[in-house]
This record gives sequence, structure tokens and C-alpha cells, in this order.
Amino acid sequence: RAPDRSHPTPAQGPTPRYFTWDEVAQRSGREKERWLVIDRKVYNISEFVRRHPGGSRVISHYAGQDATDPFVAFHINKGLVRKYMNSLLIGELSPEQPSFEPTKNKELTHEFRELRATVERMGLMKANPVFFLLYLLHILLLDVAAWLTLWFFGTSWVPFLLCSVLLSIVQAQAGWLQHDFGHLSVFGTSKWNHLVHHFVIGHLKGAPASWWNHMHFQHHAKPNCFRKDPDINMHPFFFALGKVLSVELGKQKKKYMPYNYQHKYFFLIGPPALLPVYFQWYIFYFVIKRKKWVDLAWMITFYVRIFLTYVPLLGLKGFLGLFFMGLVQRSRRLGITSLAWECWFLESNWFVWVTQMNHIPMHIDHDRNMDWVSTQLQATCNVHKSAFNDWFSGHLNFQIEHHLFPTMPRHNYHKVAPLVQSLCAKHGIKYQSKPLFSAFADILGKRARWRGR
Ligand SMILES: *[C@@H]1O[C@H](CO)[C@@H](O)[C@H](O)[C@H]1NC(C)=O
Ligand SMILES: [Zn+2]
Repeated sequence: RAPDRSHPTPAQGPTPRYFTWDEVAQRSGREKERWLVIDRKVYNISEFVRRHPGGSRVISHYAGQDATDPFVAFHINKGLVRKYMNSLLIGELSPEQPSFEPTKNKELTHEFRELRATVERMGLMKANPVFFLLYLLHILLLDVAAWLTLWFFGTSWVPFLLCSVLLSIVQAQAGWLQHDFGHLSVFGTSKWNHLVHHFVIGHLKGAPASWWNHMHFQHHAKPNCFRKDPDINMHPFFFALGKVLSVELGKQKKKYMPYNYQHKYFFLIGPPALLPVYFQWYIFYFVIKRKKWVDLAWMITFYVRIFLTYVPLLGLKGFLGLFFMGLVQRSRRLGITSLAWECWFLESNWFVWVTQMNHIPMHIDHDRNMDWVSTQLQATCNVHKSAFNDWFSGHLNFQIEHHLFPTMPRHNYHKVAPLVQSLCAKHGIKYQSKPLFSAFADILGKRARWRGR
């Protein structure tokens, strides 16, 4: 193929444009321009952010910074991506400039890159297709079992409850499975990962892939960073989080809620409500506002399937209730609405406890532009390995390994864990792993401690 000459790149000319870290840091997007550095090369992403396939915000969170390690961590098709990137190249760091900003730990970064090379050589980035196939099968079987329970035993409250418990397992487990495809950790090409991602999150869960990408990649890029991690951003209105932020809220006299009681009202408005009251409705707003019609089409296939399979068993009245927040529910007690609400309620508790246990008790702060390993380790902890914990949390109990290597297939986390532990030990970085229930308890314990600030 003929080389693309439509974007002349100054760095390839005889006199490359040289920049300093200070010049790069000024292009963080606060003024107009956004630049970032990968392997000492300087890219102008001001205009590209809107076309970035992983979302505009995640890449913007690295504007003004070195992004070499997150670039390597998130992309599985680096050769192809680098080709596109050439059109954004505007120069490189001057030879006297160090390879990273002074906030970053140089030795740690070098050794982590060696570790990553070892991991790739060991084949730990390659997925075992049988694992994911069986995982999908166990979800589909439980889904069929839920339906058969109502069909066979009728719709009195015992089979009804059993059906909703099975459905919430299906929903929670499909949630963990979509996470694998969303991270491109199963197939060798992005295309196949994206396709099955749409099927699992769209058809099995009725949620948009684009919304999940938008939220989740930001969380991974800057976990527990105020204004950058959406999982933290939603909080200040309801909860005062973390030492740094609760002190700041206190100084600004911003008090939206009685934070002294946050460890108590967390039970009421956190775990049970996040999915049914917020996410379930927000996703429709998201896809329509952003014109994500493919996502909307996948979501509709979920509702059509539920309609065709459950309306014959439970009647039509309740189905409309799905969309009117349970108002119609009163006229038909065990309708499809109550089924959906029970299921969302159970799944929501499951989802919130598991996703909070790995991050909320850790350090929460503004972005201090630390190196990749420190950024991830100060914001992330693990939960011990066991067959139940692995299944219950979708292997997200190995959150540290997942955050360091987000495209690694989850069945390999435990193999890389000892290597990560020894890297941390060598550099005096705390690597935390705890039992499941103390992880849950820490979510509340920390909240109780932040209340008085
Ligand atoms: C960076 O891109 C923006 C938007 O395309 C452009 O206005 C600006 O001049 C570019 N800066 C450099 C240094 O190329
Ligand atoms: Zn993830």
C-alpha cells in the first residue's frame, strides 16, 4: 500500500520539533489544546479526542501527561493504532528531557515494563476459549432454568422468588462476563470482542456497550481520582469520600447530606438503589442523547425477548409497569414488574458491594500524575482467592492484577499475582488482599471514619 502523505509529520522531517515536559503539561485541555506523550513522542489529540474509539474523556484524562503505560495497557492491536497515531504526531521530547515526569517512579516503571514483557512471553495475555464458552453456557442455562421454574411450578410466590433469584444471578454473572469482552480480553481482535460485548451487555442485560465503555475506561485510567473517575464523581452529593476530599468538602462548608450518618444511609441509597433507581433509567437517556442506535437496538432485543418469554406466563399488565416504575404493579401483585424489581434489587446489592470493596476503602484524591503502578495500587485492593470468591466477584477479587493488565483474560490473574506481589514488595508498595467479608466491612468502616470531617 502507498504511504499516506496527506498528514505530513514534522517529526519525520529533517528537523523534528522538540518539546519539554513543561510545554506538554500546559496542554492538558484547560486552555484549548490537548497533547500527550507516548514513548517520548508528542501527539496533538485536541481534535482526535472526539473520534477516540474508547471514548473522548478517557484519553483526555491523560492530556498534558505521559500516557505510554496506559496506552500499552488498554490496546490489544497496538500496531494498527500506532499507524493511525502518526497523523497526530507533532514532535518529540527534547533529548535532554527525562522519559517521564518527575512525579513518576522511574525504577518502578522500568521494572513494571519488564514484568509486562515477561507476562506476554509467558502467554498470559492469551485467553482460553473453553473457559469463556463454559462461562457463557452457565449463564444461559441459569436463564433457561429461571423461566422453566415459573413455567413448571406456576406463579405462586415460592417459584416466583426462586425465578427472580436465578435471574439476578444471570444478570450479575452476565455483568462480569460483559466486562471481559469490553476489556478486549477474550478474542485476539477488537472486532470480535466488541461484537460479543454487544450481545452480552445488550441482549443478555439490556444495557448499552457504549455507556459501559465510557464509564469504565475512565475509571481504569484514573481510579479514585476526583473529577476523572466517574465511580467517584457521582458520590459527593450523597457521601463524603476519602480523607482528602472529605476535608475539602468540610473547608468549603459543602454539605449536601448529613455525612455523619453516611455509613448508615449507605445501606438505603447505595446498594439497593443504584441499578433500579438510577442506571436502569439513565442508560436510555444516554443512548438517545448520544444517538447510539446500534446499542439501543441491542437493548430492544433484550426487552423483546423478556416480553415474548415472560408475558405468556405473567400477563401483559405487569409488563407496562416495567416502564412506569411499578405503578401498575399494585393491580397485579406478582406481575413481571415485581419480577424485574426483585431481580434488579438483588443484582444491585451484589454489584455495588463487589465493585466498591476493591476501591472505596483505598486512597481517593485528585490526579497527582503518578506512574501507572502507583496510580493503580494506591486505589485498588484484592480479595482472597477461592472458588466462591472468584465466581461471586467475576474474578474481580484480583482487582490489582486486573487494573495493571486490563486486557489480560481473567483466568490468568492468579498466575501473575505472585509476580506483582514481589514487584510491590521490592518497591515498598502496599499490596492488600483480604477476606470477602472484611472487604465488605471496610466499605462501611471507612465511611464511618470520614463522617466527622
Ligand atoms: C493541535 O490541533 C488543533 C486542533 O486540530 C490545532 O488547532 C492546533 O494548531 C494543533 N497544534 C499543533 C501544535 O499542531
Ligand atoms: Zn475493568
